[in-house]
Amino acid sequence: MGTDGEQPSPAATPIRFNRPTLMGRELELVAEAMDGGWTAAAGPFSRIAEQLLSDAHDGAAVLLCTSCTGALELAAMTLGIGPGDVVAVPSFTFPSTASAFARTGARLRFIDIDPNTLGMDADHLAEQLDHRVKAVVPVHYAGRQASIEAVCAAADRVGAQVVEDNAHGMFGAHGGKALGTFGSMSTLSFHETKNFICGEGGALVINDRSHLENAEILLHKGTDRRRFDRGQVDKYTWQLTGSSFGLSDVLAAYLVGQLEAREEILGLRGLLWHRYRDALAPRSEELGVTLPEVPDGDVSAWHMFHLLIEGEHRRDRVLAQLHSAGIGATFHYQPLHASPAGRALADRPAHCPVTDAVSAQLLRLPFHNRLSSTDADRVIGALIDALERT
Ligand SMILES: Cc1ncc(COP(=O)(O)O)c(C=O)c1O
Repeated sequence: MGTDGEQPSPAATPIRFNRPTLMGRELELVAEAMDGGWTAAAGPFSRIAEQLLSDAHDGAAVLLCTSCTGALELAAMTLGIGPGDVVAVPSFTFPSTASAFARTGARLRFIDIDPNTLGMDADHLAEQLDHRVKAVVPVHYAGRQASIEAVCAAADRVGAQVVEDNAHGMFGAHGGKALGTFGSMSTLSFHETKNFICGEGGALVINDRSHLENAEILLHKGTDRRRFDRGQVDKYTWQLTGSSFGLSDVLAAYLVGQLEAREEILGLRGLLWHRYRDALAPRSEELGVTLPEVPDGDVSAWHMFHLLIEGEHRRDRVLAQLHSAGIGATFHYQPLHASPAGRALADRPAHCPVTDAVSAQLLRLPFHNRLSSTDADRVIGALIDALERT
């Protein structure tokens, strides 16, 4: 397999869950950014990265941000979400999906997930929607689309905007259309745990360009500085209560280096995903696990490899055994609807039984661009051993 570029870890060395890796010209481009003398936001490398990302999103406008959390906050501000509004989010997601909207004063409505996609359950969403819901924020869990057409149709019926939290799904697709281009906006993450990284980073993808002018001002400290930089106004002034969300051009340069390696990164991750799945699939029933699927017509972004482990507390016993074998496997999201902040910020009590069950059963295997095939096989061997013993 193509992940064979690296030396395998000696048997006793722990296998890390994630390892950020240089994939091409990142350091060369960072040096170029420093030499060029533009290190703040909206510089030459930001323009290159924004163009590459725009090309991957059907020509959408793209604004680089300091994180996906920042991009979600910018989306909430751009849409004018605030007190009296309700925003529908999956309960099974990272807290930023919800907090970015709740911090405006809006309340949250938690939606359960579909047990197959682990993204928003479109039927539960449809039941929960009303005209107070101003935005719906689906997540493409692990890089596979989550009933996105049904989610958009349900949101449309009540006039709610769809903001896709696409932290996992960049370069994935559904029915030939890129993930992140279904909603009026979407957000990306370049955090070190994601497929394409620059330490910390993110982007707001604006499909509905009527939001662009507002978003640019809000991103740039509430000023029309971007219009000034383009020569569209002769001075820049304070227009709105914005904030500072722009990514440093040094990090944008690093990101360009990663984006240039798009084919290699996606190829390596796809091979690792299939190696895990192919090894486990023939014994999944006997081992009591459910494996992820990517249906025909969908292109996954291969963000991670997860499985569900049946049996009361069995996942935790398997995790403990893997850890003692030096395998950095891990669990994932805790249900937001049952968290202290989620309970305080929900607009009504939420019932999300699939989220509760999946959260208790889900285990993620070590997954990064340079995980060798030998290490992947060690992970598989240790996992099968742990499953057989629990
Ligand atoms: C679905 C999802 N949304 C948002 C975030 C936040 O991303 P960032 O760290 O870039 O703010 C994460 C982080 O893991 C995530 O998994």
